[in-house]
Amino acid sequence: MGYQVNGVHWPQLHVHQQTAQLRCLMTALCDKHCPPSDWVFTADRVNRIMVEFALNFLPVQPHHVITPVDDEPLSGVKFAGRIVGVSIVRAGEAMETALRSCCRNVRLGKILVQRDERTAEPRYYMAKLPTDVATRHVLLMDPMLATGGSALMAMGKLLEAGVKESNIIFVNVVASPEGIRNLLSKHPAIQVCTASIAEGLNSQKYIRRSLGDFGDRYFGTL
Ligand code: URA
Repeated sequence: MGYQVNGVHWPQLHVHQQTAQLRCLMTALCDKHCPPSDWVFTADRVNRIMVEFALNFLPVQPHHVITPVDDEPLSGVKFAGRIVGVSIVRAGEAMETALRSCCRNVRLGKILVQRDERTAEPRYYMAKLPTDVATRHVLLMDPMLATGGSALMAMGKLLEAGVKESNIIFVNVVASPEGIRNLLSKHPAIQVCTASIAEGLNSQKYIRRSLGDFGDRYFGTL
């Protein structure tokens, strides 16, 4: 498992299989002419695919059931441990619906980090996490990994709250090589799940040949 980016193999990086469906959806997201309602619909579909993908990296334990056919036993598995979703506000909030659709009654924390539009530096505002966050597996959600600044800041808050680094899965849609290097070199025990690896950043630290500002397009604040 793992993935190679610019000659470096990252065992903790998981890129979703480039199925025809995912490629069509990603192409639509990257189309500047995609009408806003189609864009939000498509983003929701990609977010759902990525949340489903990320859930595969949670640990499971043996679970035995009795089948309805002749009451025969079956040795299966069930998820081990409890989870919490933590979105990096604002774009990460767009992934909350997908997580709620997959995991009933899931708890949701938020970390508000805003990127300074001028310097592209992240600024921390606040975090709201469940009190028992340290005992849970965390799905840290942000569809865009550009410089990695916001993700690193969010990681700092989670570790400060006592979450084990190896219990964190970063759920993402587009990741830049720079963001991957920054995040995974500082936090090698996390898992990163993404739909695509971008070619790099432009001078304003936006991801090149990609979908633009996810939060603005999703929430209609363009
Ligand atoms: N955040 C976004 O929404 N888009 C980018 O290209 C980079 C960061």
